[in-house]
Amino acid sequence: MKKQEFVVGLDIGTTKICAMVGRRDGDGEAEIVGTGVAPSKGLRKGVVINLESTIDSVERAIEKAEEEAGVEVSRVFTGIAGGHIRGFNSRGVVGISRSSREVSRKDVERVINATKAVAIPLDQEVIHVIPQEFTVDDQDGVKNPIGMSANRLEAEVHIVTGAVTSAQNIIKSVNWAGFEVEDIVLGPLASAEAVLSPEEKRSGVVLIDIGGGTTDMVIFSQSSIRHSEVLSLGGDHVTNDISVGLRTSPQQAEEVKKAYGCATASLIKREEFFRYPGVGGRRGGKVSLSQLCEVIEPRIEELFSLVSSDIDRTGLAHSISAGVVLTGGASLLRGLPEMAERILRLPVRLGRPNGRVRGLGKGKDSPIYATAVGLVHYGLTYRQGKKMAPFKGRNLFSQVALRMKEWLGEFF
Ligand SMILES: Nc1ncnc2c1ncn2[C@@H]1O[C@H](COP(=O)(O)OP(=O)(O)OP(=O)(O)O)[C@@H](O)[C@H]1O
Ligand SMILES: [Mg+2]
Repeated sequence: MKKQEFVVGLDIGTTKICAMVGRRDGDGEAEIVGTGVAPSKGLRKGVVINLESTIDSVERAIEKAEEEAGVEVSRVFTGIAGGHIRGFNSRGVVGISRSSREVSRKDVERVINATKAVAIPLDQEVIHVIPQEFTVDDQDGVKNPIGMSANRLEAEVHIVTGAVTSAQNIIKSVNWAGFEVEDIVLGPLASAEAVLSPEEKRSGVVLIDIGGGTTDMVIFSQSSIRHSEVLSLGGDHVTNDISVGLRTSPQQAEEVKKAYGCATASLIKREEFFRYPGVGGRRGGKVSLSQLCEVIEPRIEELFSLVSSDIDRTGLAHSISAGVVLTGGASLLRGLPEMAERILRLPVRLGRPNGRVRGLGKGKDSPIYATAVGLVHYGLTYRQGKKMAPFKGRNLFSQVALRMKEWLGEFF
């Protein structure tokens, strides 16, 4: 098989770095042929703060994935997240001046370009410009305007920007590990590719990816992305609270959380006590499930209250008929979906990445791998065979323009 047929998704998360090698199988379905995971030690809240250890983990994750897939890879699709991410909607208008008055592909590119004429702070870089819909003269809700007769073309888009330095550090980590970045993709957008169905996107859905350091959210309605947000809060904050509360090490607290943790007190039917070790040889202690829940519950409540206010602010609450899909490792916490349902007042389901992909090995259909699987989906759909130039100044912008063309190619 030719090397170009493989796509690599590289999820650089706060707790783990995961590389997945995928391709289209004989039936044209996405298939994962290799996975590599390495613990991540160089990130905080989704942002690279230690290049050296990130490079090391990237190398190890990709090596393992290569080994399992039996291929050598050189390019990766990588995710980006962190509190520096901004998502907003914008619109642009152009006149259709040619004598035929027929909307061409060029006009669509022109109007998309016009949507970018908004003030973006110097330290921010455009990562995505995603069309939502077009208005042709007075007719709104048009998905594909090419070929239509018109005097005036209007576009509505969702723009995602991120800190230049954060994007650079991700690209550097990958480059210095010996690989090239084919494209950089908003993490939750990738997760959405992996766990949401087209019907959910059409009906209106909130995707929430709760990882170790961040909670990432995107809202879709009428098959388009309407909102994106990254909160610097995740499962590691819960672990931290447990570690402080029980005076035990973060590693022990993590074990305790996974084994006994619960985010909704009413789910604890039978009280149970368990022992845990102390820090540095000190005596550990004994706590009950309810006492542990008292530490966890307020944190998760706080998290979903923030999510709830964010949804309210968007004004999209009425268009979320399909409810909420939770993914990311922290969504595995017992009682967390119940808490989400209670605070968001929407139906909630857990999103695993096995729905639209084949070959996910044993244990790999966990919500932990949603972003990596989604990056493979994204790569298989939007690949354009170019690499991102190693970073020199603000050069992501031209790359975005190129990707737009490709995206339109897929769209129409
Ligand atoms: N069974 C489980 N129960 C509770 N929490 C869990 C479980 N499994 C994993 N987690 C938590 O999930 C988090 C890691 O999730 P994930 O791998 O999605 O994060 P990440 O992608 O590395 O981080 P981020 O997306 O924030 O950069 C950790 O906080 C971990 O404690
Ligand atoms: Mg993640």
